[in-house]
Amino acid sequence: MENLKGLILSGGAGTRLRPITHTSAKQLVPVANKPVLFYGIEALVEAGVEDIGIIIAPETGDEIQTAAGDGSQFGARITYIPQEAPLGLAHAVLTAEEFLQDGPFVMYLGDNLLRDGITDLVNAFRESGPDALILLTRVPDPEHYGVAELNDERVVRLIEKPPEPPSDLALVGVYMFGPVIFDAAKAIEPSGRGELEITDAIQWLIDSGRSVASRTVTGWWKDTGQLDDMLEANRLVLEDIERQVEGELIDSKVEGRVVVQDGARLERAVVRGPAIIGAGSRITDAYIGPYTSIDANVTVERAEVEHSILLSGSSVTDLDSRMEASLLGKNVTLCRGATLPKTLRMIVGDNAEIKIP
Ligand code: TTP
Repeated sequence: MENLKGLILSGGAGTRLRPITHTSAKQLVPVANKPVLFYGIEALVEAGVEDIGIIIAPETGDEIQTAAGDGSQFGARITYIPQEAPLGLAHAVLTAEEFLQDGPFVMYLGDNLLRDGITDLVNAFRESGPDALILLTRVPDPEHYGVAELNDERVVRLIEKPPEPPSDLALVGVYMFGPVIFDAAKAIEPSGRGELEITDAIQWLIDSGRSVASRTVTGWWKDTGQLDDMLEANRLVLEDIERQVEGELIDSKVEGRVVVQDGARLERAVVRGPAIIGAGSRITDAYIGPYTSIDANVTVERAEVEHSILLSGSSVTDLDSRMEASLLGKNVTLCRGATLPKTLRMIVGDNAEIKIP
């Protein structure tokens, strides 16, 4: 199977990650200072899939194109495929039909992360060439996922969020398909939520007697579609980083596995890893605790931050209590009002969530 293409789904509405997704694509939120989407592109390239189509939405497509470019930074060739509305994963497949040209492909959900990549799985697909190969992982709460019922490795049924799950095997956001998936996607009807569901398309393959194989993923898998999962993905990725301090340290203590990127400056700061601090950031009279990713050009001054993701250009100053389990968007300012003690002054966009003790 030579011409295996990749299809990354990076459109969607991202309603569960508002307000971040009002202005930005969730696939570009950085995990350990690298956009989630880039992990997917890299996983495909590592598996030998270099011809990649990326599905984009009208609202966030430009930003995604600017970030990933023509793909040369990854050793890939990227083609952008606009989807007019988020009408479902199977609708995205149909939207990409011209790009995929009736060949086999790997579909990767652009907000998903797999620790061990997909190389083994892609090789298994290349060798056995079933009509579909889906990836599964054991979860403690299968009722919240698409769940597979198996007969050996053969899939006999897929059920979306079953109240009484037949197994604990949840569908991971990576799928491999032969061209018959186009017939399936054309044959099915939109679901109750108005989307063409990929689970329905795969079920159609099973019901038509096609071969649908499965593999179980061993390393961790995360869908970063909501805040807690995004923070958890950040924690898991930081768990694997190596210490590398290239920025400037002045009277500061950097403990454990910490990356301080070139051009960052720490003054009277304590950083306890695993954590990463991006280029151009200023950490002054501050504490940065474990599982924190601070992107480029962020200021933290007289404040404590832990288990959080701070996007570029944001600033946190003079906080009374430690900030934790938080996601700050780009250029967010969080500070104490200058005039009276114990006052808060903020400009906050729609649907933001702020908890003050
Ligand atoms: P989801 O997270 O299932 O959907 P969503 O992005 O619309 O988010 P929410 O439920 O919070 O509103 O989508 C998984 C991935 O697939 C994600 O990267 C977005 C992408 N996607 C498309 O590209 N086109 C689509 O039609 C849909 C539904 C998702």
